[in-house]
Amino acid sequence: MTDLEAIGVGTILAGRYELVAEVARGAMGDVFEAFDRVEGAKAAVKVLRAEYLADESMRRRFRREGAVLKALDHPAIVRLLELGVDDAGVVFLVTEYVEGETLAERLLKGPLGLGEADVLVDALCDGLGAVHHHGVLHGDLKPANVIWPADGGPRLVDFGASKILGLDRLTATGEVSGTPAYMAPEVLTGKADVDQRIDVYGLGVVLYEALSAKQPFHDKHIGRLMMKIDAGDCLPIKAVADVTAAIARVVERAMCRHKDDRYAEMADLKTAWQQARHA
Ligand SMILES: Nc1ncnc2c1ncn2[C@@H]1O[C@H](COP(=O)(O)OP(=O)(O)O)[C@@H](O)[C@H]1O
Ligand SMILES: [Mg+2]
Repeated sequence: MTDLEAIGVGTILAGRYELVAEVARGAMGDVFEAFDRVEGAKAAVKVLRAEYLADESMRRRFRREGAVLKALDHPAIVRLLELGVDDAGVVFLVTEYVEGETLAERLLKGPLGLGEADVLVDALCDGLGAVHHHGVLHGDLKPANVIWPADGGPRLVDFGASKILGLDRLTATGEVSGTPAYMAPEVLTGKADVDQRIDVYGLGVVLYEALSAKQPFHDKHIGRLMMKIDAGDCLPIKAVADVTAAIARVVERAMCRHKDDRYAEMADLKTAWQQARHA
């Protein structure tokens, strides 16, 4: 049996996944690099935190992440290997291990060049387009949830805040999941009818940051941060990044406060980006 309190490096889950290194400590769970003894290969294992194991809504969110990933098969989305439950009740998610830095780590070194931004826009618009096609919203787009391997295209991770359209009422529990600095105003203010345009917005914020290495909205005080986002109160991207007016318009349109002013779909954002790049 696994000692729930002592899950960490050295633990073997389900007699198979040996946790070899801690990769990140998240809000919901911890992510480990693991060695899959059956496949003889590396894997990433996300374990629901011990303090949440008894919390049915957290367990549901975790299983939700697994179910969503299971339905998705796209080169820009991290691949699920297994949604596991250990004999001791530990819930864990096994995905392909993506060797590389997150976009957040990459941006500490400075903004992306336009060629890199092309690759990012391509991959994320296609990947998110596939996600939306399945009736799912990612809901937590941010640089820390994009891993960029040295030998491949960017990969989207973390469907822990995802919503399934028609099933989830975002505000049913009064709970909002996501990361405030990247959240669309309609999510922050708890509007019930959200759609794929929350991810259009999120990608807009990620692009602003990718091109400038600066977050558009930043405030230590959560209330002030929410007011700034709701008011669209940020420096114009032209002031912080070396981009053409056409590129600036694409990012600004994706980030519009009112969803009707944004691109309707990922594919529209991708097309607009490509046109701006060739303008
Ligand atoms: N499949 C993976 N391969 C390598 N690193 C990963 C993988 N999945 C997540 N990570 C790392 O772990 C971090 C946290 O994972 P994430 O799924 O975003 O959990 P959380 O819900 O805690 O934010 C990511 O930012 C990334 O650095
Ligand atoms: Mg995350």
